[in-house]
Amino acid sequence: MDYKKYLSADTGSFMRSPVREIFRKVDLNSIYSFAGGYPSAETFPLETIERLSAEVLHKYGAKALQYGATQGVPELREAISKRYDVPVENIQITTSSQQGIDVCTRVLVDPGDVVLTTNPTYLGALQSFKSYRAEVVGVDLAPSLEAARSRQRQIDDLLAEGRRIKFFYAIPDFQNPSGQTMTLAQRSELVALARKYDFLIVEDSPYRELRYEGEPVATIYSLAPERTLHLGSFSKIMAPGFRLGWIIGAPELLDQIYVCKQALDLCPPIMDQYMAAEFMAGGELDKNLAHTIELYRGKRDHLLGLLEKYMPAGVSWTHPEGGLFLFVTLPENFDTVALYDRALAAGVAYVAGSFFYVDGSHKNTMRLNFSFLDTERMEPGIKLLASLL
Ligand SMILES: Cc1ncc(COP(=O)(O)O)c(C=O)c1O
Repeated sequence: MDYKKYLSADTGSFMRSPVREIFRKVDLNSIYSFAGGYPSAETFPLETIERLSAEVLHKYGAKALQYGATQGVPELREAISKRYDVPVENIQITTSSQQGIDVCTRVLVDPGDVVLTTNPTYLGALQSFKSYRAEVVGVDLAPSLEAARSRQRQIDDLLAEGRRIKFFYAIPDFQNPSGQTMTLAQRSELVALARKYDFLIVEDSPYRELRYEGEPVATIYSLAPERTLHLGSFSKIMAPGFRLGWIIGAPELLDQIYVCKQALDLCPPIMDQYMAAEFMAGGELDKNLAHTIELYRGKRDHLLGLLEKYMPAGVSWTHPEGGLFLFVTLPENFDTVALYDRALAAGVAYVAGSFFYVDGSHKNTMRLNFSFLDTERMEPGIKLLASLL
């Protein structure tokens, strides 16, 4: 049967994730994988979760297994409100921050509207933007005067063509994929642009608490709460299997997201939310975070040392202050997409950097993850990758 005629026009814009395709092809444990963005299983607080699940069932009984409020259970919204010092009415719980990105796009974007983003940017966000038929435009946020003039011109040109810019999507802390962090000056300039040209900012912040060195930089939300939707996630600070995240923003915008979420999934998972609330409010999150940060700092340092030791001349990489990734740049003539199958056959995986560029450019780059692979397996993996290069 030909099913094509039944499909919506939106499906024509759906984009398959090359990262997930990699996972389908291979068992990640059988190779040296620097590819995915998986947290280390060592950071999952198994015993605490076992205890909390019993405590939550004892405390809330059947309520923990019932449907609940679309905005999220009050206990979790209150725990987030306290931790990040924002009013409860400015918080919507989401079923993962991927859903946060998707639901923001769904309520803000009509087909043909422009979404601005950094170049490179997070692949899962590109998938959401494209599925709503947004036009995604990459903007260079480099701090030079020339780049500042060029982005003003880029926005002026879009507006002169009659395009509507809805929001700028940014991952200011330890970006996926580059590992880079926006300075306060860059955040302030972005806010000034948003105010001047009247667009919103979606600040995606799943890695913010995973800082291994340096001082935290103010969130974009704190600089412009009236026009920022700030997305958080439990995936990297507790466990991704919980599929829990949150959006902080103006109640008027959250109200539309609330209605949209009624159609999407009625409510975020209740049992997960009660457990996350206990985990956060009872101090377990901070304990687990301290252990996670120590583990990841060691893994990051180890990977940086191995790159230094084994990578041939002409290869450079970013030095992330936190998060899960660093970004490698090879000499111009290299093509990491073309190299990929050979690397996989040899037993090492990365993600080609061009997948994260809006225009598929920068074929000479790759993203390396340092959270997933066991520390002792990193050296043979990097040796292998370096020998292929
Ligand atoms: C920048 C960014 N946003 C969102 C997500 C999705 O996270 P979650 O597990 O909360 O859906 C990821 C996951 O890797 C990410 O890197």
